[in-house]
Amino acid sequence: MNFKFLELKKEESIAIVSFNREKALNALNSAMLDEISDMTKLLKNDEEVNVVIFTGKGKAFIAGADISEMEKLNSFEGMAFGKKGSEVFTMIENLEKPTIAAINGYALGGGCEFAMACDIRLASSKAKFGQPEVGLGIIPGFSGTQRLPKLVGLAKAKELIFTGDIISSEEAKSIGLITYIYEADELMENAKTLAKKISKNAQLAVRNAKRSINEGFNKDMVSASSIEATYFGMCFSSEDQKNGMKAFLNKEKVKFITK
Ligand code: HXC
Repeated sequence: MNFKFLELKKEESIAIVSFNREKALNALNSAMLDEISDMTKLLKNDEEVNVVIFTGKGKAFIAGADISEMEKLNSFEGMAFGKKGSEVFTMIENLEKPTIAAINGYALGGGCEFAMACDIRLASSKAKFGQPEVGLGIIPGFSGTQRLPKLVGLAKAKELIFTGDIISSEEAKSIGLITYIYEADELMENAKTLAKKISKNAQLAVRNAKRSINEGFNKDMVSASSIEATYFGMCFSSEDQKNGMKAFLNKEKVKFITK
């Protein structure tokens, strides 16, 4: 598959996807959303890949949806564009392999929304975050009004969305939007270290854990625990569970095999 706006590199079991539209600060247009959708399918089916890191080339992670494309849209076209982005981001959220956003710079509007669809967010000390849509006469439309309150709480999400304030990595960490901050030149090494750590564990277990968390997140405790029980049970049909537990009991090191 050929990509114009994305670059894919693989390092052992880690895939590194870079947004590659540097001149427009990696602004998301429809073609780029299509490419992200294609890339997600490709990574899902790539048996060599356990963990995916997303980052941006240049000074932005993603500076938002493409304003020059949105400027001409009518209501119906606007709705279709928002729906398209939301569906692609939900594919990312539900990609069974863990995803890490290594946020190197601006993560604004659709860029912040993309980062929120990833499982874990790490950022450079130079990164900036925000949902500045109301300053353009629109609202977050790639599910930001839904994911931001879940991550940072209703009041802080409303404040950020109503003001359009741009915040630093420090503030993003203090409200729980990201988990770690690194110096710019150390961000990718740390993202890879985290990815490799995840990659060393039993992948069927990691994927079942992700499914259980995602599927149970919006459900009541009884339904969510029942979902968990199903995925917990599924782990017992894997070689990794047999080998992992046997190795522990024999005081040996385990090498997981299941993909
Ligand atoms: C289109 C964009 C863009 C965007 C930057 N560019 N952001 N093009 N859409 N979201 C382009 C600029 O037009 C410019 O192109 C080039 O990238 C460099 O940007 P500058 O503004 O010159 O850079 P700088 O002065 O460093 O300022 C950086 C910035 C600023 C603060 C990030 O670019 C900015 O405010 N961008 C818009 C941020 C934003 O409002 N995002 C939310 C979008 S709405 P030229 O050709 O002049 O060099 C959104 C909705 C999501 O995301 C939901 C949709 C359904």
